[in-house]
Amino acid sequence: MLHSALMNVMIKAARRAGRSLNRDFGEVEHLQVSMKGPANFVTAADKRAEEILYEELSKARPGYGFIGEEGGKREGADKTHTWIVDPLDGTSNFLHGIPHFCISIALERDSTIVAGLVYNPANDELFTAERGKGAFLNEQRLRVAARRRMIDTVIACSLPHYGRGDLVLGLKELDAVQDQVAGLRRFGAAALDLAWIAGGRFDGYWERNLSAWDMAAGLLLVREAGGFVTDLDGGEAMLSKGHIVAGNDVVHQELLKLLKAVPKSPS
Ligand code: IPD
Ligand code: CA
Ligand code: CA
Repeated sequence: MLHSALMNVMIKAARRAGRSLNRDFGEVEHLQVSMKGPANFVTAADKRAEEILYEELSKARPGYGFIGEEGGKREGADKTHTWIVDPLDGTSNFLHGIPHFCISIALERDSTIVAGLVYNPANDELFTAERGKGAFLNEQRLRVAARRRMIDTVIACSLPHYGRGDLVLGLKELDAVQDQVAGLRRFGAAALDLAWIAGGRFDGYWERNLSAWDMAAGLLLVREAGGFVTDLDGGEAMLSKGHIVAGNDVVHQELLKLLKAVPKSPS
């Protein structure tokens, strides 16, 4: 497949960082049995991947800003372009030897995401999208699933955690959705949840307490595959508010409706 020069830059960076993650993932499996466990090692793997991504992306596009989960914001001379990068999304999976993790790279131009890539190096699935040009898994064009009855849908979500966000609200939201659908899934990598919606594997998804790098690439994938993405208030502020809901036209609306109806506790 013929990619744009921009996408080639992103793919080259992701594949190089992916090789590094794959090498480290192999080590993690040995470290599982050691007393110390692999946690420190995984932090190092994460940082190594981000440095590779920074090096490759800034070499190819000097001046672009860079926001990475590990290194924070690095300003560039070009104020209109910023890379938004999660070098390892699905850290808990990686840490536990579960091959469901990815690299997420988005390019923001004047507050609009114009390119997105989500790459799982463990199974070599590469999801790419550029604004107005469609979404792809490797060579194959993607389209969101067409299911229109909620009872047939499989919906990705998070599980509420004590100490992370509003636990009571999280439990109420799960309760509101789970009876209405065929199944809920918590796979543990937000960027892949979105990529899998683009690929028609999941029908819908919602999550709170996310960061911009978890969503930026994936939301473009969903939209370019014909899906809908908003924040949980139905607006465009996913990246700043840190919550998201996605699906095809019907599932997106139905999920929004179900979640909006959940009573919020007075703050
Ligand atoms: C996490 C994953 C997870 C989501 C968390 C994220 P990390 O990212 O995307 O699915 O539920 O909110 O923080 O820490 O693995 O990069
Ligand atoms: Ca993440
Ligand atoms: Ca991460």
